[in-house]
Amino acid sequence: MGERVLVTGGCGFIGSNFVRLLLAERPDWEIVNLDKLTYAGRLENLQDVANEPRYRFVKGDICDPAAVADAMDGCTMAVNFAAETHVDRSLLGATHFIDTDIKGVLVLLEQARRIGLERFVQISTDEVYGSIAEGSFTEESLLCPRNPYAASKAGGDRLAFAYWATYRVPVIITRASNNYGPYQYPEKLVPLFVTNALRDLPLPLYGDGRNVRDWLHVEDHCRGVLFLLEHGEPGEVYNIAGGNEHENIAITHTILRLLGKPETLIRPVEDRVGHDRRYSLDGGKLARLGWTPRVPFAEGLEATVRWYVDHEWWWKPVKDHDGEFQKYYEQQYGARLA
Ligand code: NAD
Ligand code: TYD
Repeated sequence: MGERVLVTGGCGFIGSNFVRLLLAERPDWEIVNLDKLTYAGRLENLQDVANEPRYRFVKGDICDPAAVADAMDGCTMAVNFAAETHVDRSLLGATHFIDTDIKGVLVLLEQARRIGLERFVQISTDEVYGSIAEGSFTEESLLCPRNPYAASKAGGDRLAFAYWATYRVPVIITRASNNYGPYQYPEKLVPLFVTNALRDLPLPLYGDGRNVRDWLHVEDHCRGVLFLLEHGEPGEVYNIAGGNEHENIAITHTILRLLGKPETLIRPVEDRVGHDRRYSLDGGKLARLGWTPRVPFAEGLEATVRWYVDHEWWWKPVKDHDGEFQKYYEQQYGARLA
């Protein structure tokens, strides 16, 4: 029998990819998408499925109990992608991060408890572990978030666990690596550098450019979340690792090579304050359940770069109209966002 799934933050990067995956792969499921439409949430991200009868969009805030009660009504499962997500924005001001990434999670958990929801997936992040010099974090590792975004996500992550431990709300917590792919807001490394390079603007590389991230294609992330929605154990945490660790400078060189742009576009700038040196996840727990990512990094990155080349209509409007943060970024790093 079909499920009815509440997806929150479904108009953002990962959420929109997840909604599209569910509609394609679970033909008897219904989806309700609750999204506040912040700067990062765009109806354009799901315009191709907007008229699908099994899909319903509701504009609303996860911090608003009435909106959450309404959207969750009749749902059997929920997946919470809604969040403030950009580290540099959390350095400009962390209030929205605490509101959505902690208080919003509380509102969702309370409603899930009230109606006896059958599954609640809290999308957390590898950033809650902090930085690691060698080896990889397992789900048992200590949490040591080191920036306001990561700290707020750690709050939501542990609050979700508390609702399992205290009230037996059937919560599953996922911690994924850095995602890349289509529909990512052009403030994050890959889409920012691709769209800057396309305009022959400098690529502002923080510090020595040798910080390491583990990269996971967004479609793999979404497939992993769907797998856990159906096969995860309540009360458990699961890392979703990409298994593709690269220094930022290496990603930058690849992007420039794929676009046929000169390396003189690279501009070393001031380091991000508190910049985590390396993220690395051990994906063994999920692999032992039989799930591993599929997209080879070289292929995934090339397809992603091509997507931004082909979808200027998608990124141009937001790249050109991004007020307060744009000013902060340009002041902080002396480099342009648009
Ligand atoms: P995003 O910034 O692209 O999208 C966030 C979405 O949430 C937007 O549609 C926005 O409108 C919505 N939203 C924000 N506040 C809201 C509120 N109060 N109520 C309702 N909707 C609200 O983010 P993303 O990159 O797609 O990330 C999605 C989730 O995955 C986040 O929880 C993030 O922490 C997590 N995550 C992201 C990555 C990554 O690399 N992007 C990696 C691991 C985990
Ligand atoms: P980002 O995409 O912001 O993700 P996160 O900080 O959550 O990992 O950044 C990825 C890496 O790229 C990180 O080490 C910071 C670096 N970076 C730059 O060097 N320049 C930039 O303009 C941005 C946005 C990021």
